[in-house]
Amino acid sequence: MSLNIQPLANSSFGSLVEFQDTETAQQAVAAAETEPHALPEALYASHGLLLMKGMQAINDEPSLLARLSRLFGSEVENYHKTLTTTNYVHVDVPEIFIVSNIPPADRPPPARPEPPLTADGGLPVQFPHRRSWHTDQSYRRPPPDISLFYAAIPAPKGQGQTLYADGIAAYEALSASLKSRVDNLVGIHVKPGSGRAEYAVRANETPQPLGPHEQPQRQPVVRVHPVTGQRALYLCEAGQMDWIDGPFAGMQTGPDGDGAALLYEIMTHLTQPKFVYAHEWDKGDLVIYDNRTLLHAATWFDAEKHDRLMWRTTIHGNPGPEYAGEQKSWILEGKTGSLGE
Ligand SMILES: [Fe+2]
Repeated sequence: MSLNIQPLANSSFGSLVEFQDTETAQQAVAAAETEPHALPEALYASHGLLLMKGMQAINDEPSLLARLSRLFGSEVENYHKTLTTTNYVHVDVPEIFIVSNIPPADRPPPARPEPPLTADGGLPVQFPHRRSWHTDQSYRRPPPDISLFYAAIPAPKGQGQTLYADGIAAYEALSASLKSRVDNLVGIHVKPGSGRAEYAVRANETPQPLGPHEQPQRQPVVRVHPVTGQRALYLCEAGQMDWIDGPFAGMQTGPDGDGAALLYEIMTHLTQPKFVYAHEWDKGDLVIYDNRTLLHAATWFDAEKHDRLMWRTTIHGNPGPEYAGEQKSWILEGKTGSLGE
């Protein structure tokens, strides 16, 4: 059985993949297990973004998602072991983190951008018009490698898209002077809701006390991929960087400092429409993304009118030589830090 790989439509990166002669998710997962290197190799050849369609049998057999996840690394996060609030964890498959506006997760979507559309009527993607660009759990060291994101109940078309930005192409397109500024730069990341986000600092909020397993973590702004050697921009924006001691180590701190100005410059560059793919979800779509090489952002949907239920798994274990031998920063006496983003 072989894997058909096609360029992703309406995107400058990523691939649409399908195992030949498979019709159901059960068959696709069985084929992937027979050729365990096929999907990871396709992922790495596609700047870290794959789309599989027609996987809706996962709704009835969610363990298929965990099985598929294991092909991407040895360590698929078990959310029962990471102190994640139980209403965000699938009742039968603890490797599945629930992103949904319906009970028991009950999480609202992000706010609509202001204005809601671009001047030519399109979906805003570029920072700072579009906010909440991030890479999953970047406030942990080592950070996770790969996420799988599955649409059990998607929002209607035109709402609730997921945006992906190609950190490899964006790094390659940096001017020489900006490249030299970011090559050894270190970002300071913190978990959302810590009172250290840009808006929280501007509002003079009192930062939350953070336990030893919740401390802000330093990450290189340019990651070197451990498999391909490709360099990619790695940073978040307002809500997942530390705007008290950062956003960058060794630069002027705070929302009006030199670090903030540089972050705005990099993020605006990285999220140009030419580097961004906006995924409109169909039920049964599965997107596989490499957190080491791309950023993503959720978009608004009308949560009063529509239910949306998405399932995510997270794979750890190959962050690159920079993290070799490190203890997990979020481990505390055998327990671990809270809510994943
Ligand atoms: Fe995310």
